[in-house]
Amino acid sequence: LALGQAAPAGKPISPDLFGIFFEDINYAADGGLYAELVQNRSFEYAPSDHEGWNSLTAWEYLHEGYAMGSVSVESAAPLHANNPHYATLRVENPFQKGLGLKNTGFDGIPVRAGEKYNFSMWGRVKSGAAVPLLVQLRGAKDQVLAETTLSAQKADWQQYSATLAPSTTDDKATLVVLVTGKGVIDLDMVSLFPENTFHRHPNGLRPDLAQAIADIKPKFVRFPGGCLAHGDGLDNLYDWKKTIGPVEQRVAQRNIWNYHQTAGLGYFEYFQFCEDIGAKPLPVVAAGVSCQNSGGSWRIGSVGQQAIPISEMDAYVQDVLDLIEWANGPVTSPWGAKRAAAGHPAPFNLEYVGIGNEDKITPDFRSRFTLLYNAVHAKYPNLKIVGTVGPGPKGEDYDLGWALANQLDVPLVDEHYYEKPKWFWANNQRYDSYDRAKSKVYLGEYASWGNTLYNALAEAAYMTSLERNGDVVQLASYAPLLAKEGHTQWNPDMIYFTNTTIVPTVNYYVQQLYGHNQGNTYHQGVVTLPTGAAADTTLAASCVRDAQTGDVILKLVNASPQVQTFPINLASFKGLTSAATLTVLSGDKDAKNTFANPQTVLPKKSSYKAGKSFAYTSQPYSMVVIRVRGR
Ligand code: AHR
Repeated sequence: LALGQAAPAGKPISPDLFGIFFEDINYAADGGLYAELVQNRSFEYAPSDHEGWNSLTAWEYLHEGYAMGSVSVESAAPLHANNPHYATLRVENPFQKGLGLKNTGFDGIPVRAGEKYNFSMWGRVKSGAAVPLLVQLRGAKDQVLAETTLSAQKADWQQYSATLAPSTTDDKATLVVLVTGKGVIDLDMVSLFPENTFHRHPNGLRPDLAQAIADIKPKFVRFPGGCLAHGDGLDNLYDWKKTIGPVEQRVAQRNIWNYHQTAGLGYFEYFQFCEDIGAKPLPVVAAGVSCQNSGGSWRIGSVGQQAIPISEMDAYVQDVLDLIEWANGPVTSPWGAKRAAAGHPAPFNLEYVGIGNEDKITPDFRSRFTLLYNAVHAKYPNLKIVGTVGPGPKGEDYDLGWALANQLDVPLVDEHYYEKPKWFWANNQRYDSYDRAKSKVYLGEYASWGNTLYNALAEAAYMTSLERNGDVVQLASYAPLLAKEGHTQWNPDMIYFTNTTIVPTVNYYVQQLYGHNQGNTYHQGVVTLPTGAAADTTLAASCVRDAQTGDVILKLVNASPQVQTFPINLASFKGLTSAATLTVLSGDKDAKNTFANPQTVLPKKSSYKAGKSFAYTSQPYSMVVIRVRGR
């Protein structure tokens, strides 16, 4: 403890217990956290991404006035082999207004007066000495909000850029690129970013969403999924190597959630984001097999679990070893050099890597997981490898996954479950009896089915049990994190958003209260649960201590319709003041934060005086955090 104060011996809690799970589901990345405002910037959309999509989805062909010419999508000599399509504009006669393309963004392009926007594109002049371009931001009524001119002159691919500063705010703006002179030009990677990205990184993140995530104070970030990590077929596995390096050279692919993944938010950006928010990165790689559930809405025709041929596993194992070298290796190592070339010579200090996601534990899985696990463990014995035990809180894959983890001595396994609030209350003791000598647990995905206060309280109560078992549960993350209004494949989620608005759910505030109030030791017997009918299904509490500040933190959950009084005895703690903060999250049982009423349930903070021994009376349907300051 800080200041050398004596204190009752508590049970150690994992220092990384509460983090977050980011998956590109519900438009979480493209159209979401990734700040790119142009949709289908590289003309790579295809019907396989989504029914009815094509390489000109989100683009309109503009041939204004009497302009004569044509647009087509070509692939004969692309900017890069990984990015095979580009648009060709042929202008025979531009007349007064020119001919070009208009991008409608992801549900429009939101622009703010007074802010700057970085436009860039790759162009290649095919005919004409120089091709004059007019680049505009237009408002919802097609009025010009900002414009600039460029002159494309090179017969080879060349990047052109400009800054646009709109005069007015418009939530449904468009980006227009017009050719205003005679000539033929190829265009690719037509891009628009706000200058003000999170931490001002180029190719960066949307600042308000990134900040909302940072405000949880997560200890780790798991990425890129979820099912996205193993894909719905071998051709859809998430390949980290295709997501680093110059954005125009990354490989876009079909998103398993029925849209398109540019990989603009790739491994470099994930690791950088973790660093920005002080969270440890937890990348999850496919265990050499794809998802077993690869049919239904994901892909026409079920392919089931597919496995990388054993003859190709050496190369795949090497890819995973390369990831670790890329993250942690010196700049003199081949992959460390690539990280340095991207602008990050210092290692990212990777401590965890996940192998597999909710996989069916088949012989194919076992053999490939074993190869991967043994190779990574042999080369990096201190890396904490997270295995997987299938979907659901129990079942055949759960048992087989655990058996394999125990056989190989895997440090952690990833459990997932989505259940009703009732389940979370009934299973509050789940981890009390886990064998401490076996693999530890990463509760990688969990949520109760809903975003009401009652759902959030079930999660809050369950999280007291995660703290109590913080010696065996090393990591935990609610899932999924983000969901864009109108583009949501999975409910409930933690944060809902549009292009301009963010609605943190009540579940978000529960996660945030835990994120801000993590402890290093758990202390039994400090809070007593009120007795009475349904205490087990409505009341929960925990007491932890933060080693750095010496603060003692009490969490009280009351999901009953009555006030409840929790007796609290702090007498055994030395080095405590009586100064405390009280944070209360309460409201109607079914209350939710919505776009119409985003602030229905918010935490309210006040100061509080804590005695050595006192009783706290909590409101019906409430979560309370009392943080008593250490001396
Ligand atoms: O969180 C949504 C999905 O739920 C994840 O992609 C998957 O791992 C789980 O089935």
